[in-house]
Amino acid sequence: MNKIADSIVINIGSLVTPRPHVGLVRGKKMDDILELNDAFVAMRNGIILAVGTGDYTIHQGADTKLIDAGGRLVGPGLVDSHTHLVHYGSREHEFEKKLRGVPYLKILEAGGGILSSVKMTQDASERQLYRQSRHSLDIMLKHGVTTVEGKSGYGLFAESELKQLRVQKKLNETHPVDIVSTYLGAHALPVEYRDRRQKFLDHVVETMETVKKEDLAAFVDIFCEKGVFTVEESRFVLESAKKLGFGLKIHADEIEALGGVELACELGAASADHLMVITDSGIEALKKHDTVANILPSTSFNLNSDYAPARKMIEADLAVAVSSDYNPGSSPSENFLFTLNIAAIHLKMSPAEILNAATINAAHALKKGTQIGAIATGYDADLVIYDAKNWPYVLYHFAINHVKDVIKKGRLVVENQTIIEEV
Ligand code: NIG
Ligand code: FE
Repeated sequence: MNKIADSIVINIGSLVTPRPHVGLVRGKKMDDILELNDAFVAMRNGIILAVGTGDYTIHQGADTKLIDAGGRLVGPGLVDSHTHLVHYGSREHEFEKKLRGVPYLKILEAGGGILSSVKMTQDASERQLYRQSRHSLDIMLKHGVTTVEGKSGYGLFAESELKQLRVQKKLNETHPVDIVSTYLGAHALPVEYRDRRQKFLDHVVETMETVKKEDLAAFVDIFCEKGVFTVEESRFVLESAKKLGFGLKIHADEIEALGGVELACELGAASADHLMVITDSGIEALKKHDTVANILPSTSFNLNSDYAPARKMIEADLAVAVSSDYNPGSSPSENFLFTLNIAAIHLKMSPAEILNAATINAAHALKKGTQIGAIATGYDADLVIYDAKNWPYVLYHFAINHVKDVIKKGRLVVENQTIIEEV
């Protein structure tokens, strides 16, 4: 095998990564990562060729480019495995209502909340959607995110759902961040379908067939929640998705626990997400399956509501991921590092647990755990250089962007906090 790299990151003071090739990281093992000092990462054709300490020159040829990390911290590109990236407008007009204590679901019931973003997204052109979402992606990348999951769900009907997914496909082709798409047609029930629920679900399944034909998404998701969609309705949508060959996800146990987590496990979903009010039976189900427990602490922070019981879940040997849930209502911030700060303070997760949760376990939640989420030979060369000496510092010194440079598939795309290369 050719050992000569096309570029090498050298002079890495501290390199942190999930242990290579371990699969889903569960329970106690989440508190274990690999740390190397005085390290290098050699890359070739966008893939990691070698990771080591000391002498890197066996990988150096005449044309090899050296990237000097200056003794800084280097970690894997972050994986944000749950966002609602593509939507139009914002919802600051509902902010005061929320601050005065009007519950999230009450705002939705009155035709606001998700439904007000639906209206704005339905009315937006592809160009408007592309521009707003591209700006969000730029912020995510500058905060170290190299792969993001993005859901539809602000169109509800076929035309606008497909519009969101097409915009996302175009972004994936034109922006350095990789996007994994999820179809979330069942995000809310349109007001005019309140007495014809099954009719709307049939429409969701029909749209799903087009999504499949046009290869616009890898996953299907549903908002399983009191006053939104029931467990039986979720079963109908997710079983149809499974038959069509989609991976599955679910929004469950965010406000009330209905049994969506158990359903996700039974159907072999890649992840069950939110879990703020998860029950012992939900934890038991996740323990027996490879469904990732995807926690979204920025949403708890912003809704001023319960946090998922992360410690209890880790003690129960679950595989936990953490993601931003970036969306215009319950989590309007693209700053993934801040999500990780909240995971430390409010979920009481250790720095090592948070690293596993935001890289390798998040990658598994996207069925990409053998390709991204670790600094290991054969993985995509997605790296973040932090202006910090060690990983705990990044979590402790909160609400600051510590990312200096980002390397995506072997190419320097952010240098000194500025995006320098577009696809
Ligand atoms: O994951 N809970 C459902 N969906 C989103 C919120 C969407 C919105 O409020 O616009 C979430 O929190
Ligand atoms: Fe969400």
